[in-house]
Amino acid sequence: MRKSNQNKLMKKDQYSLLKEKIKSKEFNSVFVLLDENTDKYCLEIFINKSGINTYNKIVIKSGEENKNIDTCISIWKELNSHKADRKSLIINLGGGVLTDIGGFVASTYLRGIEFVNVPTTLLGMVDAAHGGKTGIDFLSLKNQIGVFSMPMYVILDSDYLKTLSKQEYLNGYAEIFKHSFLTNSTDLNFDSLIKLDFFSDIDFIINKYSHIKNKIVKVDKHESNIRKILNLGHTIGHALESYSYLSNNLNELKHGEAIIVGLITELYISNQLNNFPLKKVDKLKEVSLKYFDKIRLTDSDLEAIYDLMTFDKKNNKGSVNFVLLDKSGKPLIDQKVDNDIYIKAFAYYSE
Ligand SMILES: NC(=O)c1ccc[n+]([C@@H]2O[C@H](COP(=O)([O-])OP(=O)(O)OC[C@H]3O[C@@H](n4cnc5c(N)ncnc54)[C@H](O)[C@@H]3O)[C@@H](O)[C@H]2O)c1
Repeated sequence: MRKSNQNKLMKKDQYSLLKEKIKSKEFNSVFVLLDENTDKYCLEIFINKSGINTYNKIVIKSGEENKNIDTCISIWKELNSHKADRKSLIINLGGGVLTDIGGFVASTYLRGIEFVNVPTTLLGMVDAAHGGKTGIDFLSLKNQIGVFSMPMYVILDSDYLKTLSKQEYLNGYAEIFKHSFLTNSTDLNFDSLIKLDFFSDIDFIINKYSHIKNKIVKVDKHESNIRKILNLGHTIGHALESYSYLSNNLNELKHGEAIIVGLITELYISNQLNNFPLKKVDKLKEVSLKYFDKIRLTDSDLEAIYDLMTFDKKNNKGSVNFVLLDKSGKPLIDQKVDNDIYIKAFAYYSE
């Protein structure tokens, strides 16, 4: 491990805290929500570490295609059949899809019960499990239905990453790269991040880069202002991700695969409109393309993706809103971008 003990994740304490809460009879019943992979790979680790032995298990199908209302209904039914009440607790053990659904189900069941997130993917550990955005996809649009609702805790434990595929692991880096462009810290900015070892420095990375998000969320829980900067890369990224599910021209993209394209193109737009340094965008593109395949898009794909952007929740009165960076790297919210710059950004990404 490159950094000292102070950067190790506080695994033991977080598990003990949860165990104590449960032991103190604060909850009438405990539910562990899993998908088929986290049931197979993560449940045993969680039970061994937490020592929780009385719980009901609910297993859902994995994958973004199941982040929908049908899955919620199946979970609400199970909660109901096990007589879950207002003093029940849901422990969400899984990646971003599972914590998004589990948080939403918990926050709406009986007008809201407590939940704990235990992320098991890197993307979940640095981003999705934190900040209280819960929800599901609707009519093929990302996260169209949901509520802001904070988990009682987030337990961070990189031991779960041992069974994650390399592709899923690297997916988490899209959001880590994004966080590195949103910090003022010279120790954590993109130039410093890429000097780290993406595998052996992982505890340090999870600790520091999830903290960047949490610090922003703390001052703007409901995204009325500063929190919007966390959407850097997501105006284009979310539309591309939704499009990959709708179109026959593209394979379905993982969240991180789409966000990395959004990040490169939106930083290029920041260069064109605000003089954000091109050499930083070049570096991001160079590093990203070592880990992520380049996505090939036709003119008609780009048109369809642009149309999908108009559904984005960040918009207001029909215009598409972007987060861009200024010359010095400072994020600017609610920025408008003309179609020709958007096309130019994809030409840059594709070259
Ligand atoms: N709420 C937020 O603030 C927020 C932020 C970013 C992303 N998200 C959401 O997160 C989702 C993406 O999350 P993700 O990338 O974690 O994907 P995911 O939840 O689909 O997990 C990826 C795959 O890995 C499997 N898996 C999970 N943990 C495993 C483990 N330890 N070992 C083996 N397999 C494991 C899962 O079953 C799944 O097949 C998207 O829906 C995105 O919208 C939410």
